[in-house]
Amino acid sequence: MQTPKSDFSFVETMLMQGVGFSAIMDSARMGLFDSLEQGPLTAAAVAGKLGLEEEPTEALLELLAGMQLVVSGPTGYANSLVAGEHLVSTSPFYQGKALELQSRFNDFVTLNLGRLLRGESDMREEVDDGWGSEDSMTGTLQHARLGGLQDTLALVRTLPDLNESGMLCDIGGNHGELSMSLLENYPGMTGELLDLPHVAEAVGGRIEKRELGGRLKPVGMDLRLERLGADRYDLALASHVLYGFVDDLEGVARMLYESLKPGGWFVSHHLNVAGDLDPNYTAVVQFITRVSGYKSHFIGKDHLEGALLKAGFTDILSCPAGKRRKGLLMAGRKA
Ligand SMILES: C[S@@+](CC[C@H](N)C(=O)[O-])C[C@H]1O[C@@H](n2cnc3c(N)ncnc32)[C@H](O)[C@@H]1O
Repeated sequence: MQTPKSDFSFVETMLMQGVGFSAIMDSARMGLFDSLEQGPLTAAAVAGKLGLEEEPTEALLELLAGMQLVVSGPTGYANSLVAGEHLVSTSPFYQGKALELQSRFNDFVTLNLGRLLRGESDMREEVDDGWGSEDSMTGTLQHARLGGLQDTLALVRTLPDLNESGMLCDIGGNHGELSMSLLENYPGMTGELLDLPHVAEAVGGRIEKRELGGRLKPVGMDLRLERLGADRYDLALASHVLYGFVDDLEGVARMLYESLKPGGWFVSHHLNVAGDLDPNYTAVVQFITRVSGYKSHFIGKDHLEGALLKAGFTDILSCPAGKRRKGLLMAGRKA
């Protein structure tokens, strides 16, 4: 009998990882990681707390231990550092809703792949419709808190001569955390959060809850159809938004330049082509992005820098953001 020359096991690994991910999601949904925060617990104790059978619960805990989300010790199972930080619902870095949000995108692609490939389904419309739901906003914010948001805030704090009593705009601001954190940091600053009309309407409650209603105005607009105005802002922010406009970065850069006051800064945060991401992750993200009707989720440093320079921006600076340099931050100033 013939034997194969190549190793097919990586495809089988991917097949099995689907079950592993479902186990993580279900464990988070049923509060398994929350339960384990209360100390090492035996499989019987976990099963008792969650109303499960002991034997399959032990199998689940062993699976999670194999994935390094759970640590097994002499007195039972406990959360690993990564599970304690990202899968316990009271943690500031909880990712439950972020994972649910991405799972919904992935499920849509999986279920509609044939239609997407034949051009019979418009996922961009579906995605845009979803951005204003409470769950999507919370999921988007949870994902931002993995590090990209903190690093963007840190970069803004270093911008030379930023007018701290000026006006900012948070383009595609969604949950509003970037602009709200900046306004809390700069008490003299005011701002506008620009997003699709249904998203701008939905974020109003979050702004009121932070008592920033008098300083941050949500403005509904579709950047594909409307322009930003001229000489209006001291700081323009676009976090994970420019990928929607990657086929006309020069045109967008010109609009951003025009919208700033002289000396004003533009800051972009987007996925980093040169980041240290798992190539399988990058390939699937890019596939989902393209079948959804966007050109690319990643924007190269040279591509954006070239567009900003052509539009007239000066003092360009850039640095990676987040773990594994997943994001790229780039800032430029209007002369
Ligand atoms: C991936 S989310 C980024 C949210 C947030 N800036 C962050 O980094 O966490 C993209 C946001 O851009 C908004 N958006 C997408 N297309 C837009 C358009 N044509 N005009 C205005 N906003 C748009 C979406 O509604 C969504 O809120």
